[in-house]
Amino acid sequence: MPDSILVRRLRSIAPPTVLLLLPGAVESPRERAPECGIPVDIPASVRAEHREIRQGVMRAIAEKGEIGVAARTLWTVLQPHFVREEQIALPLLGALRPLSQGKPIADLVEVLPLADSLKRELPQMLAEHDIIARAVDRLAVVADRENKVGYQRFAERLKLHALNEEEVMYPAAIIAGDLMRLRAKVEGVTVPCVLIGSR
Ligand SMILES: [Fe+2]
Ligand SMILES: [Fe+2]
Repeated sequence: MPDSILVRRLRSIAPPTVLLLLPGAVESPRERAPECGIPVDIPASVRAEHREIRQGVMRAIAEKGEIGVAARTLWTVLQPHFVREEQIALPLLGALRPLSQGKPIADLVEVLPLADSLKRELPQMLAEHDIIARAVDRLAVVADRENKVGYQRFAERLKLHALNEEEVMYPAAIIAGDLMRLRAKVEGVTVPCVLIGSR
């Protein structure tokens, strides 16, 4: 029986000790009956925003001269940060709607370790925002010098993306994790006490 997307993701990032504790031996929530609940994954709107930003950086990388150089530097710090966000933070946002509607969540046990990892790594995620901001500033300076208004606006958009995560997305993801842990306790769901991966 194939694994759910979330279980496959956990397997891809978890160290061997964690793999032993993952619910691989049990049936995948996505394969259980529909009444088991809604599977959790990154919301489409959030996924689309990351995709558009990546495409923007790629366009800048294709530019000749200093814009291309600045964009390549930006990519080296942005890409690993985005990947980690997509592993431990953004999937939790997919739980917000079913939680707000009081609906069951199929991936409850699998999602909770993500919340633990996010809480643990939050200081590092925020520090990475500072590093990314410096690379974005460099792109903005070069774009200004070359009178490339489109890249100046792109730099502003990237700054807003990070601010939105700090003010809304990360706190919402943590609250979603806390609510799911509460629900798991109330419903008597067994929670694997593991952290997902490390960097
Ligand atoms: Fe992001
Ligand atoms: Fe971020």
